[in-house]
Amino acid sequence: MLQTLITPGTIGWLHYTDDKPKTPNSFAITRMIAPEAEILTLGTIPDQQGQGKASQLLHDITHSMQHNYDIDSLYLDVDENNKSAIALYKSAQFAVCGKRKNYYTSKNGIQSDALLMTRKL
Ligand SMILES: CC(C)(COP(=O)(O)OP(=O)(O)OC[C@H]1O[C@@H](n2cnc3c(N)ncnc32)[C@H](O)[C@@H]1OP(=O)(O)O)[C@@H](O)C(=O)NCCC(=O)NCCS
Repeated sequence: MLQTLITPGTIGWLHYTDDKPKTPNSFAITRMIAPEAEILTLGTIPDQQGQGKASQLLHDITHSMQHNYDIDSLYLDVDENNKSAIALYKSAQFAVCGKRKNYYTSKNGIQSDALLMTRKL
């Protein structure tokens, strides 16, 4: 992850709430080559899930990408079995634009496809 973060164009995002100013509740890593950017990973810590944290972070990322970095298209890959993440991205106006066969391999060796999703800013 450190190697990814020091790659030019890569940003690590941490989201905090006022009641826990020292503990991030959600995070993301993005990489951009303007005018396009990719969300490499995004997550909310388990005891903070289901409270709109990832939604808020995605909103902040898209707003900043558009206004501070001149990004006009966002992309991401998500495991086709990750229903909560797919619902999150669809609610943030991402749409499926492709599929990568056997992109993920789980710890027990089971493969699954990735959905490629995109959103215009
Ligand atoms: C996917 C994940 C980031 C969602 O984070 P979150 O902070 O709980 O999400 P939010 O509370 O902001 O939810 C926003 C929307 O996502 C969808 N969603 C989130 N959790 C969901 C669940 N368990 N089931 C169905 N939809 C879900 C809903 O559409 C929700 O909108 P709604 O509350 O109006 O219904 C979180 O579950 C997570 O960290 N998962 C593990 C890491 C991961 O899979 N990351 C994605 C990699 S691509």
